[in-house]
Amino acid sequence: MEMGLTGQRALVTGSSKGIGKAIALGLAAEGVDVIVNGRHADEVEAVIAAIRQAAPATNPQAAVADLSRAEDREAVIAAHPDIDILVNNMGIFEPMSYWDITPAIWQKFFETNVLAGDALARAYLPGMLNRDQGRVIFIASEEAIMPSGEMAQYSMTKTMNLSLAKSLSKLTRGGQVTVNTVMPGSTLTEGVADMLQTMYADSGLPQSQWESDFMAHHRPLSQIQRLIRPEEIARLVVFVASPQAGAFSGAALRMDGGLVPTIF
Ligand SMILES: NC(=O)c1ccc[n+]([C@@H]2O[C@H](COP(=O)([O-])OP(=O)(O)OC[C@H]3O[C@@H](n4cnc5c(N)ncnc54)[C@H](OP(=O)(O)O)[C@@H]3O)[C@@H](O)[C@H]2O)c1
Repeated sequence: MEMGLTGQRALVTGSSKGIGKAIALGLAAEGVDVIVNGRHADEVEAVIAAIRQAAPATNPQAAVADLSRAEDREAVIAAHPDIDILVNNMGIFEPMSYWDITPAIWQKFFETNVLAGDALARAYLPGMLNRDQGRVIFIASEEAIMPSGEMAQYSMTKTMNLSLAKSLSKLTRGGQVTVNTVMPGSTLTEGVADMLQTMYADSGLPQSQWESDFMAHHRPLSQIQRLIRPEEIARLVVFVASPQAGAFSGAALRMDGGLVPTIF
């Protein structure tokens, strides 16, 4: 399928690793000029080098910034005032007991996982609406609609992503701009690979069985019984970002391997 994305400009937040990196590479493979973001310059530059190698016709750029900070966000917006595609991917998560969630932790998760994406959408949507072209895509999680209770401070922010995207989609009525959310299930990012290492290094189980054991015991509802690969999420996001996906508006799209056991 011809995606029709060549020459567009995208900001993918938190794209120095994990799902965001796969989205950045996926968009670049379709000819998109991607702005790569993360807090560490060396990791951002490594992704830019990978894009230059895989998609030499594109013009990737760096946005080294802590997007939970208003001043960093303003600097990124000033350096890149016009984009066609905003992927609000950056997010933090940390399992913890509900009783350990202090007001400061609630605040940190709200600022990082909700307010950062809101501020970027607020900055970039007007230009998209004026040009009658653009995409805003939030990356939420199955935790948005099925909180596990393992990290209430995270789950709440992911539910907010869905609500915010739906509200923003109301601003696009009658035009070509869309706002949607993609909800990944458990995905094999570097962070999840590290978590498996921590969980199983001393277990005596061969490494080849860590993933299947994790799925069987910690994600029993998953129908595919494997971790999703970041590239699989990226392919869905690239499609939603493309003109081919113009009929999705305010949608919450699940790619969770069947983890959420309901029809909707
Ligand atoms: N992995 C999963 O199983 C899974 C499942 C469902 C949903 N999700 C969602 O998918 C998104 C990506 O998750 P992931 O697992 O790919 O995460 P990840 O591997 O931890 O990567 C997060 C990215 O965000 C960057 N980042 C973190 N804090 C930042 C900040 N304040 N400012 C700028 N960049 C920041 C990180 O780079 P630096 O640390 O260098 O800044 C990194 O590039 C998140 O919204 C997450 O909630 C993930």
